[in-house]
Amino acid sequence: MKYLRQLKPNQLKNKTCLLRVDLNIESPEKDAFRLQAVLPTIKFLTKNGAKVVILSHRGRPQGRESRLSLKPFAKILSRLLGKEVRFADRIKSFPAGDIVLLENLRFFPEEEKNDRQFAKKLASLGDIFVNDAFAVSHRANASVEAVTEFLPSYAGLLLEKEIENLDAVMKRFKKPLVIILGGAKVSDKIGLINNFLGKADCFLIGGAMANTFFALQGLPVGDSFYEKIKLDGKITREIGEKIILPVDAVIYKRKILDIGRETAKEYGDIVKKAATIIWNGPMGMFEDKKFAKGTEKITTAVFKNRKAGVVIGGGETVASLNKIDLRFKIPAYPTGRQDSRIFISTGGGAMLEYLAGKKLPGIEALKKR
Ligand code: 3PG
Repeated sequence: MKYLRQLKPNQLKNKTCLLRVDLNIESPEKDAFRLQAVLPTIKFLTKNGAKVVILSHRGRPQGRESRLSLKPFAKILSRLLGKEVRFADRIKSFPAGDIVLLENLRFFPEEEKNDRQFAKKLASLGDIFVNDAFAVSHRANASVEAVTEFLPSYAGLLLEKEIENLDAVMKRFKKPLVIILGGAKVSDKIGLINNFLGKADCFLIGGAMANTFFALQGLPVGDSFYEKIKLDGKITREIGEKIILPVDAVIYKRKILDIGRETAKEYGDIVKKAATIIWNGPMGMFEDKKFAKGTEKITTAVFKNRKAGVVIGGGETVASLNKIDLRFKIPAYPTGRQDSRIFISTGGGAMLEYLAGKKLPGIEALKKR
C-alpha cells in the first residue's frame, strides 16, 4: 500500500488530490470528532501545494434529500481550515478553487453500485486519489473502491493511523486482553467475538446486547430489546466463562436500560488489570443521564488504567465519551497526541469488520495499486 505521508512536496505541488473522507455526520455540533478527524490530511495536502477535491457521503438518502446535503460542511470546513472551501452541487458545474467539497455522493445512485463509469468521471477531477475514509472502507462504493482503478492511489494520514492502531490490538496485543462490548446488537459483533475468542481473556457485555444473551439462557428480559438469534456453540460455551454478563441492572418500565452498580464495579476491576482494551458500544442508554452511570464508570476505569493500550470505536461509544465530563483528556481527533495509549477510531461498522478479520474493499483496493 502507498501512503500519502511518503510523498515528497514536489509530488504534490500543483496536483489536484481527490480526497475521500467520511463526513457521515448527523449534526456537526454534536459530532465534532469525525469532523476534526478529516482536517490533518487536508492541511497536509494544501501545505504541500496541492488542490483538494473533498468527496464524502452523508446518511442513506433516497435521491436528493436536502437535509442530507453536504453544503453546510463547506462553511464549517472553511472556518476550521481558515481557507475558503467551495461547494460543488454537481460534477458538471465544477467551481475552481483550492479546496472544493462535492455534494453527497449518495445523491448519485452510481456511487453505491461501485459504478466504473461514475468512478472514472470522479477520477477526471483529480491527478491522485487519497482514501482517508476508514469509516466507509467496508463499502465497495465507487469513490472508495472503483476510483482506485483510474488514479495513483494512497492511504491518507487518518486511514494509516486507523490501520496501525487496529493492527496493534489484533496482532501485537499484550495480555490480559479485555474486550468491552455494548450497544444494541450481538449480530453486529459476532465476527469480532469469533475472531477474538481464542485471544481475548474476557468479553465484558453490556447494553442491549446483554439482553440477547440473557434471553438465550431463558432468563426474563421484560420488555427490553433483544435479538432472537441462534449462536454458535463455540460462543455459547463461553457464556459465564470468557463471556461475562451483568450480575445486576437498572430497570425502568420493565426495560433493562443500564448495567447495575455491582456489574460496573466488577467490570471496572477487570479493566484495571487489563494490558490491552478494545471497547465498542455503550453499557446502557447513556443519552438519558439516569441510565448513563454504567458507561461513565467503565469510561473512568478505562481512562484511569494508565498502562493499557486502548482502542475505542463506534459512533455511539464516541458520542458517550463526548457526553461524559471527563477529567481525562480525549484527543480531539485520533492522532493520539494527548494520550498515545488511547486510540479512538472513527469507524463504526468498518472497525467491527476490520477487527472481525474481514478484508475491507477500500483497503484491499489500495493494496492492489
Ligand atoms: C458509518 O457511519 O459507519 C459510515 O459512514 C458508513 O455508513 P453506512 O453504514 O451508511 O454505509
